[in-house]
Amino acid sequence: MPPLEPARLILDANGTPFSEVYGDVYHSVAGGHAQSRHVFLAGNGLPARWRGKKRFVILETGFGLGLNFLATWLEWLNDPLRCAELQFVSVEKHPFRADELASAHAAWPELSSVAAELHRCWPALVPGFHRLELVERRLTLTLGFGEAAQLLSRIETPVDAFYLDGFSPARNPELWSPEICRSLASLAVPGATLATWSVAGQVRRALTAAKFDVDKRPGYAGKRQMLVGRFGPGDVHRHLEVDAHPNAVDG
Ligand SMILES: C[S@@+](CC[C@H](N)C(=O)[O-])C[C@H]1O[C@@H](n2cnc3c(N)ncnc32)[C@H](O)[C@@H]1O
Repeated sequence: MPPLEPARLILDANGTPFSEVYGDVYHSVAGGHAQSRHVFLAGNGLPARWRGKKRFVILETGFGLGLNFLATWLEWLNDPLRCAELQFVSVEKHPFRADELASAHAAWPELSSVAAELHRCWPALVPGFHRLELVERRLTLTLGFGEAAQLLSRIETPVDAFYLDGFSPARNPELWSPEICRSLASLAVPGATLATWSVAGQVRRALTAAKFDVDKRPGYAGKRQMLVGRFGPGDVHRHLEVDAHPNAVDG
């Protein structure tokens, strides 16, 4: 694998982390943590869907600043009915260094306890997979550093929920490609769900072709729409309405 090109922490005029490589922001200007909860957690019917399960597996495309991971970790920790074991798998082509993650995470004091733990065990920026065992091994973060298409083809863990969080599909098409969507489908358990902030036609078509049943939902803050989906036959509307997290949907 070629050596990694780490990301550099740069803020745009609104103070939002911005990628010079992709020309896009890492999260909504309206708020990173709240966006994670609205789009990715509630969009996947979490925390309700992990309740009562021995193990629940989430796969994310684009670890970035790890905000979705930290938001998920905190939600899981605070849920008395949480699954016994949570596995979070994420791929990232341009990882940040630990000190830049720490500097970005300072914007969310409510995440500080879990963020500090992540900074402590952040791996060296070496291509390939890195497994971080947290919360007495009940939470596992598997980070794949490198190109998503190659890394996803090496994953074998069945996945319950997908967080699709590339940059804008116009600027980052390779992370939303039909090939990526087929890789995700090959890992999905029956009834696995997905959520993403993007409703771009190319994304919907690639997901539908990969046998995800997709549907639009109200987006976060100023964004009119987001996308949810379910793998295989079934009714995505009914499934997610039953499971949606009321606070996150409202927030
Ligand atoms: C919007 S950011 C992700 C934000 C992140 N989920 C969070 O919670 O902070 C998109 C990420 O996808 C990564 N990325 C873009 N193309 C990629 C590729 N082909 N393979 C792996 N990662 C990629 C970018 O480097 C960036 O960190």
